[in-house]
Amino acid sequence: MIEQGFLLNKDQLKPIVDGFMHEFQTGLKTPSKGLATMIPSYVTKLPTGEEQGTFLSMDLGGTHLRIAAVELKGQGKTEVRELKKSPSPELKTGEGEVFFDWIADAVQEIIARESLLFNEQQRNGKETISLGVCWSFPVDQTGVASGTVLRMGKGFILKNVEGKDLAELFHAAFRRKNLNVVVTAIVNDTVGTLVAHAYTNPKCRIALIFATGINAAYPEKVRNITKLDDREKYASDAKMLINTEIDIFGSEKYLPLTKFDLQLDKSHSQPKFQLYEKMVSGAYMGELTRLIAMDYIHEGSLFEGKVPKGFDQAWCFPTANMSTLENNDHEGISHIFNHFSVTPTSEDIELLTRICRNVSTRAASLVSVAIISLIEQQQLWNRQEHIIIGINGSTFQYYPHMDSRIRNVLNEWYGTDTTGRIDLEVASEGGSVGGALIAMLAK
Ligand code: BGC
Repeated sequence: MIEQGFLLNKDQLKPIVDGFMHEFQTGLKTPSKGLATMIPSYVTKLPTGEEQGTFLSMDLGGTHLRIAAVELKGQGKTEVRELKKSPSPELKTGEGEVFFDWIADAVQEIIARESLLFNEQQRNGKETISLGVCWSFPVDQTGVASGTVLRMGKGFILKNVEGKDLAELFHAAFRRKNLNVVVTAIVNDTVGTLVAHAYTNPKCRIALIFATGINAAYPEKVRNITKLDDREKYASDAKMLINTEIDIFGSEKYLPLTKFDLQLDKSHSQPKFQLYEKMVSGAYMGELTRLIAMDYIHEGSLFEGKVPKGFDQAWCFPTANMSTLENNDHEGISHIFNHFSVTPTSEDIELLTRICRNVSTRAASLVSVAIISLIEQQQLWNRQEHIIIGINGSTFQYYPHMDSRIRNVLNEWYGTDTTGRIDLEVASEGGSVGGALIAMLAK
């Protein structure tokens, strides 16, 4: 079986868990130089669920920009009125100023559209409106509302942005557009998800994003974050939410990289960056599947050894196609094959579906490594309580059987008793609510 290296058992996962645990320790003590991991968020409180008020928030991910007016209603309830836009490939790879102006225009649009939520002074620019920013990219935080933009990923290669202060980039755009808006909180999407999920379930202790990218956040004892200056100013039992940037964990030394992972990395615009993310997340699983399928075609066992039209183009097979195949969605499947102008046999469909299953099962195993290492780091297993994990992202929510595949790995690792106490909850409110809550908690 060509995709043999994709099936990982407990013994093969162990060195990766150990490697991740080691990276937690080094990341907590090593001040960042450029690419950082274990980034302190400066957020030391989780919400109780009773917070109330209306806040403006902005959430930028790999595919969408969401600007939202978020009403926190108490009792864990929220109402989100959002404006959703997608940046064009030109915007994602162009001049930073143009990109931030585009965001400022969207902020202006929502203030006009949801004008009833703002008072007259705010509408006419006399009173400042606070904005919580949720940023699904690495930022080396220097405070709750400031941080240096690091290398972005997800197709973003903005000019004149890396190394600059994120809040300043926004404020400059707001000044150019005459907007009286100020950034009062900046959070990574994982931290936003942890806070947002804790609003509905205050026991949540791990947030995981499993979407286009992968990453996780958790509360760490401040006394363990030895790279943090002025640790003494926090209470002795204080905890701070940490953005692990687990997406860049691991190296060739201990990640079980196959020749397909190396091939994918080589053809990527940012090679050697986010090797772990490239093995698991929604942006990449489709391409891994395609690369494996190409080997089967060359061997003669798929599509009669003939490459379907366009199938040799890198990135032409999105991860959503894998869901369609694994869901056995006949109409969707015909659509995929029509696109590649090929009439498959039932064996072709079966083989391609098996590749999808193996690629996504490996993703489930490697994502479980992130979960296990975060449970270990906080020693959550030795309490008798439920371990609440809030997971946000399309790959977790919509990829068939992802939840049960992750559970299988946890069962193999911890046994059924402990796994029975691990609750993988869909954290449907992510960045927007998280950004708003932190803007509020920071106030
Ligand atoms: C980014 C992280 C982000 C994650 C999930 C990764 O590519 O580096 O900052 O949290 O994707 O969106």
